Amino acid sequence: MNFEYYAPTKVVFGKGSEEKTGELVKDQGGHKVLLHYGSGSVVRSGLLDKICQSLEKAGLSYVMLGGVVPNPRLSKVREGIQLCRKENVDFLLAVGGGSVIDSTKAIGYGLANEGDVWDFYERKRQAEGCMPLGAVLTIAAAGSEMSDSSVITNEDGWIKRGYSSNYCRCRFVVMDPELTYTLPDYQTQSGCVDIMMHTMERYFNLSDNMELTDGISETLIRSVMKNAKILKQNPTDYNARAEVMWASSLSHNGLTGCGTGGGDWASHQIAHELGGMFDVAHGAGLAAIWESWARYVYREAPERFAGFASRIFDLEEKDTETLALAGIEKMEDFYRSVGMPTSLKELGVEPTEAQIHEMAEKCCFFGCRTVGVIKRLDAADIEEIYRMARE
Ligand code: NZQ
Ligand code: ZN
Repeated sequence: MNFEYYAPTKVVFGKGSEEKTGELVKDQGGHKVLLHYGSGSVVRSGLLDKICQSLEKAGLSYVMLGGVVPNPRLSKVREGIQLCRKENVDFLLAVGGGSVIDSTKAIGYGLANEGDVWDFYERKRQAEGCMPLGAVLTIAAAGSEMSDSSVITNEDGWIKRGYSSNYCRCRFVVMDPELTYTLPDYQTQSGCVDIMMHTMERYFNLSDNMELTDGISETLIRSVMKNAKILKQNPTDYNARAEVMWASSLSHNGLTGCGTGGGDWASHQIAHELGGMFDVAHGAGLAAIWESWARYVYREAPERFAGFASRIFDLEEKDTETLALAGIEKMEDFYRSVGMPTSLKELGVEPTEAQIHEMAEKCCFFGCRTVGVIKRLDAADIEEIYRMARE
C-alpha cells in the first residue's frame, strides 16, 4: 500500500548522552526552557540536576514544572501553559517517560494555538502548530519520543484521549539506556509490552505484500521478548536496556507501519479506557486485554494470526485455526513469564457491568465511531471483550 514515512526526530543515543542536552536545546534556538518532569524519579536519580547543569553550561535559563503522573492530567497541562506564558518560555524539555512527554506536547499545543487545548483531544478542531520540544527519555515504553501522538486524561469525566499531528514531534530525544536502570520491574515489563503492542497493532491488518515491514516487525517483537526476559533477571544489563530502548522508538515512529494501511489499534483504544477509569499502567492494561481481543477477532484474519504464531514462536501446527490459537496462547505464556497480567483480575481491576458499559461507550465516542480494522468493533463488541478479559 502507498504510505508516507516521516520521522524527523534527532536521536542522540548512548551512555552519558544526557550531558549534550543543553547544546541540543541551543541548536534548536531555545533560550528559556520549561523543564517538565514527573513524580520524582528524576529528582531521586540525580538526572534533573544533571540536566539543569547542562542547560546552565549552554547559557540557557529555565523554569521547572514537576508532578506529571502516569495517565497525565489535563489540569497539569493547563498549569504548564500558564507558567510558560508568564515566563516567556520558548522551548519545552520533557525529562521522563511517555506521560511527561505527552504532557509536554499538550502544553506545546496550548501555547501555539488560541482557545482551549482540550478541543484537539475532543476532535473539535485541528492544531495549527506546537511549541518546539525535546525529550530526555527515562523509560522505554510509549514511544512518544518519536511518535506524532500524545494522550491526555481529562479529570472532568475521566476521559482519556489521544491526539496526533506532526507538529508535536520531538525535535530531539536523548536516550541513555543507563537512565532506565532505576525502573521498577513492573514498569520495565509494562514498557516492553507497550513496545511489542505498538508493533503488533500495526502487524495485525488486512493488507498484504509487505515482506520488509513484516520482517522488521517480527525481529523487533522477538528481540523485545528476549530482552524483557533478560531484564527480569538482570535489570542493569546494558545491552538488553539498549535493545529495548531503541525498539521503543522504532516501534512507534511509523517504521513498522509502512505499507500496512495503519494497523488495527483496537486493543489500545480498549485499554485506554482502563487507564482513564482505573488509572492502570498502560502496558499492563494492554497485556490484560490483548488475548481477549485476539480470540474475539482472529477468525477475520486467521492466516495473519497463524503467520504470527509460526514466525514469532516457531510453531508448526497443522491447520490454520489451531496454529492461530496456539500463537495467542504462547503470547499469554510470555506475558505471564515476565509478570504481566493476562486478565483484568490479574491487572487488579474488577469492573462492574455498568462500568463495562461506560468504558465501551466512551471508547466508541458514544456511538460516533467503531475501533479496529481486523474486525470493526462497536460498543457491544467492546463490552464482550471486556467481559472475556475479566476472568
Ligand atoms: O513520575 P516518575 O516519578 O518519573 O515515575 C514514573 C512513573 O511512575 C516511572 N519512571 C519513569 N522513568 C523512571 C521511572 N522510575 C524509575 N526510574 C526511571 N528511570 O515510571 C512510571 C511510568 O511512567 P510513564 O511516563 O507513565 O510511562 P510510559 O512511558 O509507559 O507512558 C505511559 C503513558 O503514555 C501513553 C499512555 O497511554 C500513558 O498515558 N502513551 C503515549 C503514546 C504516545 N504519545 O505516542 C503511545 C502509547 O500507546 C501510550 O498510549
Ligand atoms: Zn501504547
